[in-house]
Amino acid sequence: MKEPTFSMTDISSLAASTDAVILVGGKGTRLRPLTNSIPKPMLPVAGYPFLQHLLARIRAAGMTHVVLGTSFKAEVFEEFFGDGSELGLEIEYVVEDEPLGTGGGIRNVYDHLRHDRVMVFNGDVLGGTDLNAVLQTHVDHDAEVTLHLLQVADPRAFGCVPTDADGRVSAFLEKTEDPPTDQINAGCYVFQREIIAEIPAGKPVSVEREVFPALLDRGARVFGHVDQAYWRDLGTPADFVRGSSDLVRGIAPSPLVDGRHGESLVDPSAAVAGGALLLGGTVVGRGTEIGGGARVDTSVVLDGVVIEAGATVERCVIAAGARIGARAHLCDAVIGEGAVIGARCELNGGARVWPGVQIPDGGLRFSSDI
Ligand code: GDD
Ligand code: MG
Repeated sequence: MKEPTFSMTDISSLAASTDAVILVGGKGTRLRPLTNSIPKPMLPVAGYPFLQHLLARIRAAGMTHVVLGTSFKAEVFEEFFGDGSELGLEIEYVVEDEPLGTGGGIRNVYDHLRHDRVMVFNGDVLGGTDLNAVLQTHVDHDAEVTLHLLQVADPRAFGCVPTDADGRVSAFLEKTEDPPTDQINAGCYVFQREIIAEIPAGKPVSVEREVFPALLDRGARVFGHVDQAYWRDLGTPADFVRGSSDLVRGIAPSPLVDGRHGESLVDPSAAVAGGALLLGGTVVGRGTEIGGGARVDTSVVLDGVVIEAGATVERCVIAAGARIGARAHLCDAVIGEGAVIGARCELNGGARVWPGVQIPDGGLRFSSDI
């Protein structure tokens, strides 16, 4: 039966009668070594675990019941968020002993659903989409599934999702080399609960490669909701630093950073020497020390890090407890927990230093003249 269209005044009741499900069971391999010890959605961006920004957006939209589909490092989530009451949410955790994939993960939370309508989120997408507008599109079309879609310059790394003139999805092509359109799956779906019941239980299933193509084959009512809002998948180091920087600068919205936007976000317990330059939406964590003349641009610097005088750090993630020596130059690098980068070292494009590794002073360079 088609539900009545909600007016703007009661739109939040649409969200209030929708379960939120967040898929957070992936291993985050593209963010190693950061994800060796912390699951991807728990990595801090703009001073909070990424997932907390998403939970705040879900709460702001009016959803209150959230189920996390976990697998890899499952316990970390519950230890941090508990029952969710501090965030105004009721959070449940469902653990997959063996990863069940995106579709299997959705099926696995079925018994915990309370409503007929379910909004499913990939746990690594930073977005500014109006979630109520997505729900409204779903109701307006009397859809069985609605997918949030957007246009990107290079769709090859995503699910490519063409739609017809009525917004009805005509195909779902996950990570194809020859995408027929630049419209992609944004990783947020609205499902009618009975569709979730159709997914086979207890075995790995991909929502992108199996569930969506099967629904389209049988002519199910699958629609797209397209918008131009901020969107970024934080799955790679480059996107991760960019997403954090966009939050700090206010380019990406988050209820948690409202009113504190600027060139940097520095924890009050950090010690930044005079003459150190922090820019590009850099975030500096608890107890971190930054020496005089250091320049840190568009980077995520976590807790207890030491960046010595005159070092330059650009588009990097520096994990907790790492030390960057004086006049070292780091660009597009990921430095693991407790690693030591000696003075005057140079690390460039895509370098990843594993936790605890120590590079001696001057021990790694790309030029001969420093
Ligand atoms: N519970 C559970 N179990 N979650 C999982 C599992 C699993 O076995 N595998 C992956 N996930 C979670 C991840 O933690 C992540 O939050 C989400 O599912 C998507 O997985 P990614 O590994 O980040 O997928 P992707 O980025 O390559 O592609 C997906 O997202 C794109 C948009 O960001 C696909 O849905 C694409 O179609 C989409 O375009
Ligand atoms: Mg992803």
